[in-house]
Amino acid sequence: MAFKVIITAPIHSDGISIVKDIAEVNILETPPLSEDILIRYIEDADALIATLGIEPVTRRIIEHATKLKIVARHGVGYNNIDVDAATEYGIWVTVTPVEELFEAVADHAFALLLCIARNICRADRFVKSRQWGVDSTKLYNFIGVGLKGRVIGIIGLGRIGQRIAERAKGFKMKIVYYDIVRKPEAEKQGIVYKELEDLFKESDFIVIAVPLTKETKNMIGEREISLMKPTAYIVNIARGGVIDQRALYRALKEGRIAGAALDVFQQEPIPPNDPILELENTILTPHIAWLTNECRRAMAVSVAEEVVRVLKGEEPRYPVNPMVKEIIRIRKR
Ligand code: NAP
Ligand code: GLV
Repeated sequence: MAFKVIITAPIHSDGISIVKDIAEVNILETPPLSEDILIRYIEDADALIATLGIEPVTRRIIEHATKLKIVARHGVGYNNIDVDAATEYGIWVTVTPVEELFEAVADHAFALLLCIARNICRADRFVKSRQWGVDSTKLYNFIGVGLKGRVIGIIGLGRIGQRIAERAKGFKMKIVYYDIVRKPEAEKQGIVYKELEDLFKESDFIVIAVPLTKETKNMIGEREISLMKPTAYIVNIARGGVIDQRALYRALKEGRIAGAALDVFQQEPIPPNDPILELENTILTPHIAWLTNECRRAMAVSVAEEVVRVLKGEEPRYPVNPMVKEIIRIRKR
């Protein structure tokens, strides 16, 4: 076949079938992939499907990819892709903003919030280690906090943040938010805008839903964490780089905040010697907020359709660098 497509880890078979109709597909099975490994595979590839979001697509990789036309993210976060380099080389970078993804991530954020508020994971370990019958007074170690009337502070009231707010409303929580842009529609629904500092001081649960950018990197550090109530929890389903993880670790270790539930980390997979793994007041999941059957299938189909469009010479539907259209047009002249 004329085209070659690299997929960095297996995706839903419905997506693979769509790509296989027009291209030879090479699915790499051993993530996380280093820059050198990706360079080895990408030299004669026409398209790269970047699946997990943790594989770097650097300038060096792009410079080696002489035939590459599209880097298609299987997901919406594209912080690990050098978009400027791709744009310079006339390579599309696309994402998969499917409804199923936003719903899945909002569900997971709420699952984390409920689990940390009600000590579900610790209680599960207690029962399975057969301690329940041994000393029932230990049940009081699992006293939780109710959600009704508590303040949830959402940082980033975008597609996922808004769906988290919908869930919080169902639990009768007070909802406040911080975002780079005010959201009048949400404010009409009773969601209250707060400056970041006030959100940290007032919230019982802080949920992070901003993209990782130059501006949001380490946006939550020692100072912001020091503003939190000692009874407050933090939930991160966005990107690990948004929080200074060492500062968070210290606050959790010293009991300066109640707990954290994290789906994303500064380094993924999280290194086995990371001290955060030892803490009891955390719940950690391996970047699976998006991972439902519905979302996995919808994302695979969406990413495959983007690749097929571009390889057929059409424009993609969800580019993050739309200016590539002009670059391609100038080159053709
Ligand atoms: P989105 O719709 O773009 O929402 C993000 C919100 O954050 C937007 O309202 C955005 O404002 C705002 N924002 C951007 N920069 C900001 C800043 N410096 N300060 C305050 N607010 C800022 O994105 P989304 O689809 O909800 O996704 C959010 C992130 O979640 C993704 O970027 C990705 O990293 C992460 N994610 C994680 C998973 C997972 O499995 N754990 C899955 C999907 C996504 P503007 O719209 O004005 O830019
Ligand atoms: C997943 O992390 C995504 O960015 O979609």
